[in-house]
Amino acid sequence: MSQELILIGRAFVNGNLKETEIGISEGKITYVGPSAGRGDRRIDLGSNRIILPGGVDPHVHFRDPGMTHKEDFGTGSASAISGGITCVLDMPNTIPPAVDRETVVEKKARLRKRSYCDYGLFAAITANSRPSKVADLVAGYKLFMGSTTGKILTNDDNVIADMVGEVMNLGKVLSVHAEDDNMILKGTERNCTDHLRNRPAAAEANAIRRLSKFKGGKINICHLTTVEGLNLAKSYGFTTEVTLHHIMFSSDRGSDAKYKVNPPLRESAAREALFKAFEQGEITMFGSDHAPHALSEKENEFDLAPSGMPGVETTLPILMNTVRKGTLPLSRVVEMCSTAPARVFGMNKGSVEVGKDADFSVFNLQNRKEIKGDCLHSKAGYTPYEGREAVFPDMVLLRGEMQLKDGEFCGETMGADIIG
Ligand code: NCD
Ligand code: ZN
Ligand code: ZN
Ligand code: ZN
Repeated sequence: MSQELILIGRAFVNGNLKETEIGISEGKITYVGPSAGRGDRRIDLGSNRIILPGGVDPHVHFRDPGMTHKEDFGTGSASAISGGITCVLDMPNTIPPAVDRETVVEKKARLRKRSYCDYGLFAAITANSRPSKVADLVAGYKLFMGSTTGKILTNDDNVIADMVGEVMNLGKVLSVHAEDDNMILKGTERNCTDHLRNRPAAAEANAIRRLSKFKGGKINICHLTTVEGLNLAKSYGFTTEVTLHHIMFSSDRGSDAKYKVNPPLRESAAREALFKAFEQGEITMFGSDHAPHALSEKENEFDLAPSGMPGVETTLPILMNTVRKGTLPLSRVVEMCSTAPARVFGMNKGSVEVGKDADFSVFNLQNRKEIKGDCLHSKAGYTPYEGREAVFPDMVLLRGEMQLKDGEFCGETMGADIIG
């Protein structure tokens, strides 16, 4: 008989926190309820902690292969676990980009036994893609309609019609970087306001509009920044993803390139409108868009600095701090950081429920801490949230195995590709 672990404590089950016991065997949740003293190993988490399903981040750039001076799968996934994330979906803009069977197979082989969290890969769709040829390998597909890090832009409506049409028959989600490249200007940039001027809000709405013929398809709009884009996406039946930086920061960040990101930070009125929509539960899920670049690259002249900021380790802890303060319901955080992304991408994760993977993030809401970039686990070594308060997890379990204990990372590279 296999070992049975019992977690005892206050867990988020069926939309509410309740005192319960959770049985775990062979990496899965075997029951939720009174255990009648069963179990080979029992962990009593007491009444100060809350047990949540592990976080699922549907949008990270772990830079592996090809840009491992910015991040690699080991540091990226250690960062994920340390922020309560037990599964990530990794974007294809690596070097070489993951675009076809050969590059995806190679990337998968390279990542084997190197990740601390579970993961899935995206394949990019480009003019020469054959999406059906990688369907058995990937968690989803990615379309870049606007230029950003990596050179896998696909902005031709004929190519898009062809490729997206093929993806829609495969039953997997297509995540889209929705900025219409035809509307992106190239003028010199000295600060976040210039970056915003070059990448107007209308470019987002227009890119989404160009996908209207795929109404009802499994399309997910990444890092939404405007309510106009949100309303269009919703009207087409698309799911939506938002980052913490787009709801927290506006374009008034000056010339600090750490805040240079695509799509750009918007003006405060647009940001506030987006924040309201988020508060009202209109956005499907969070994606960190963890996009680390080396500090030396970010300290370049603003115009030359690359776009993107780290976030996989801070999103959930900052949101848990808002839960602690009572300004955001816990149910919204669990839905948008675990349950919804798992559901949208068809993972057997994201809720405390019999049969699901035994992935948990345990928080003690009294444990508030100031965020310090050099204490995070990403190679970036900096964070746009420096000095902000957060509640980091106390304990993280991946398929029943302790990857973080007493607030300290203790992981092993047991993370697996969810597609196999
Ligand atoms: C991302 C990156 O650096 O890979 N950058 C960014 O500004 N968000 C790419 C992307 O998601 O657009
Ligand atoms: Zn993007
Ligand atoms: Zn991204
Ligand atoms: Zn540490």
